[in-house]
Amino acid sequence: MIKGSSVRTATHPIDKLFLDRWSPRAMSGGAITDGDLRVLFEAARWAPSSYNSQPWRMLYARRDTPQWPLLFDLMVEFNQAWTKNAAALVLFVSRETFEHNGKPAPTHSFDCGAAWVSLALQGELKGYVVHGMQGFDYDRAKTALDIPAGYRVEAMAAIGLPAPKETLPPEMQAKEAPSDRRPLAEILCEGKFAW
Ligand SMILES: Cc1cc2nc3c(=O)[nH]c(=O)nc-3n(C[C@H](O)[C@H](O)[C@H](O)COP(=O)(O)O)c2cc1C
Repeated sequence: MIKGSSVRTATHPIDKLFLDRWSPRAMSGGAITDGDLRVLFEAARWAPSSYNSQPWRMLYARRDTPQWPLLFDLMVEFNQAWTKNAAALVLFVSRETFEHNGKPAPTHSFDCGAAWVSLALQGELKGYVVHGMQGFDYDRAKTALDIPAGYRVEAMAAIGLPAPKETLPPEMQAKEAPSDRRPLAEILCEGKFAW
């Protein structure tokens, strides 16, 4: 797998890990061990959250199991075309209220995002491809997976073993490269909102 740091350059000296993680679509179809999968989920578990409320919930399915179609069938055709070679799919859901007082939790999605990126970075460190997805049916996810009211469906992720980009359909091969980012000046200002 191409390391993101081989083609991306940071403006300021961040750890190589942040450049190395990217979102390939080419996956070999190989399986992930239950042990490694747990390591990725464990990294998500240790994410920080408001009041340590840990609002994230992760529903997962490994390929070739009865649970796989529950998640796989939710995705748009484009995502199915490459995630068919993933080893596991994960659906991230977050609880909208605090358990300790029942009040709305303003940062539940933010906290869940922290859990997702922890999982993605741990996946990179262990040599897996981890690719986030919003291309799936959010309403159907709720019904197909029995997600109760009070939980927001956030995003999905595919986890797999890397493969050469030549294994992808031609139109996807063209996009199979680490992307760049906006300059800091476009996302940062000292004091008031200045855009
Ligand atoms: C929440 C989220 C949803 C995404 N949805 C999709 C998707 O449905 N399909 C897809 O191919 N890529 C999807 N991506 C991948 C992004 O396009 C990718 O992360 C972004 O272009 C930055 O590139 P990089 O991750 O390679 O650095 C998603 C990523 C995130 C974090």
